[in-house]
Amino acid sequence: MQPITIAPSILSCDFARIADEIARAERAGADWLHVDVMDGHFVPNLTLGPPVVGCIRAAARVPLDVHLMISEPARYAEAFAKAGAHVLTFHVEVCANAAAARDVVRTFRDTGVPKVGVALNPNTELERIEPFLDAVDLVLVMSVFPGFGGQKFIADVLAKTRRLRELGYPGDVEMDGGLNADTLPRCAAAGANVLVSGSALFGAADMQGEIARFRKAALDARAEATHAR
Ligand code: DX5
Ligand code: ZN
Repeated sequence: MQPITIAPSILSCDFARIADEIARAERAGADWLHVDVMDGHFVPNLTLGPPVVGCIRAAARVPLDVHLMISEPARYAEAFAKAGAHVLTFHVEVCANAAAARDVVRTFRDTGVPKVGVALNPNTELERIEPFLDAVDLVLVMSVFPGFGGQKFIADVLAKTRRLRELGYPGDVEMDGGLNADTLPRCAAAGANVLVSGSALFGAADMQGEIARFRKAALDARAEATHAR
């Protein structure tokens, strides 16, 4: 079984003090740091590019989970890999078909990035990624429409997470958007092992306590779900 991995999303950190915020998340027990890259085209918001990811890499100790919400992921793959991404994830919605998605996966692989991921918007069917599931290390099931932190969790997407595990998908299944003490255990019970949280973690007075609670809740929910099956 894939390890429970808690990935604070730095989208919700204080960007004026980013190195301190990274250190705070790491001291609190972050396994990965989730880095949201937005191009103002695929999503209606802009964040950061490869040079800033490089600075985050230099300041951080844990792996960087880079979530590309951009229209041309293949074009920038090399730059993000060089900047130090550990996981590099693209959105399948930017690909015209499965062959095009496979090409993106290949381009990502060629950069030597340790893990290649594919993300699905809440209204994108699992069928879109099934033809090349065997080629990716991680599937990101979005539980909000990407673009902004602090949105409400869309519970319908849990069915996709459950289905991925029913299909025997052995890799990482990540969920991102609206995860908190109520929704995170439901993600873990459905089969997700990488759990992203922005506002609930960076907004917590005691991030360490919150990450510990999240981890325990995820492990308990997973154990209970495994038992019930
Ligand atoms: C949304 C981003 C998320 C975001 C999650 O487009 O992909 O990673 O930071 O933030 P919360 O946990 O606040 O929903
Ligand atoms: Zn994200």
